[in-house]
Amino acid sequence: MTIRTATLNHVVTIEIARPEKKNALTQAMYTAMAEALIAANADASVRAVLITGQPGIFTSGNDIEDFMQRPPQGDSASPVARFMTALLDCEKPVVAAVTGAAIGIGTTMLLHCDLVYVSDEARLAMPFVSLGLVPEYASSLLLPALMGHVKAAEKLMLGEPFTGSDAVDCGIANAVLPAGEVVNHARRLAERFNALPPTAVREAKRLMRAPNQARIREVMAAEGALFATRLRSPEAMEAFQAFFQKRQPDFSQF
Ligand code: COA
Repeated sequence: MTIRTATLNHVVTIEIARPEKKNALTQAMYTAMAEALIAANADASVRAVLITGQPGIFTSGNDIEDFMQRPPQGDSASPVARFMTALLDCEKPVVAAVTGAAIGIGTTMLLHCDLVYVSDEARLAMPFVSLGLVPEYASSLLLPALMGHVKAAEKLMLGEPFTGSDAVDCGIANAVLPAGEVVNHARRLAERFNALPPTAVREAKRLMRAPNQARIREVMAAEGALFATRLRSPEAMEAFQAFFQKRQPDFSQF
């Protein structure tokens, strides 16, 4: 079982649970998360969704083996696109408890959550360029908008890792919590929606998201097409092989 879902006190928890591979996300895992989000959205008794990982690891991002063997085509039918679209389309509040490292899509998905709490041991990183890839799911739009071009360039072009406090300073996260408290804290915040009128919560979320929706989807489509091409590039192949061979990639020949 690599994605566990449970409903408790009107909150659906989606727990990424593949610690032996640092919670790397496979196509099957994206599908399970997409289905859980779609079901939570459709269930009137659900008031919020909580996305969490394992102690010390939120997710190491897309499974790199999957990237090599089954690269997404950049269309809306791929499991990763279904998951991210379900996240974008979720009308209920989505709360993230970042229990540890959040790499690649692990950080990208936070940009589409409503409340984000990060463990004091977590490191976030978006090393797309280091892997021969490009930013995804509107991060090339949302990150510069949140923190300005130069800070976003450190994260998206250099792939510089950053801490939970940096994420708070940049407007990606609400607060940093001790590692042992982050999930309970996020859950308490998710449960606060139980006492609020659900239609007003939903409409508030819709209004907050509406002004950027069309642009976000447009940018996502452009990034997705380029990402799919980059996945098949010699630069990306070198980066993926280097990861599994536990060596530094060598881009000097490109
Ligand atoms: N895809 C596939 N396998 C992954 C993975 C990923 N994204 N991340 C980790 N793994 C696997 C490793 O290959 C290793 O497998 P093995 O035990 O069979 O050798 C196992 O998970 C443990 O990873 P390891 O790198 O040894 O753990 P670590 O604690 O030293 O480092 C990370 C943890 C998350 C910093 C490191 O694994 C990492 O950088 N992962 C890749 C992140 C990435 O580039 N993601 C893609 C973003 S687009």
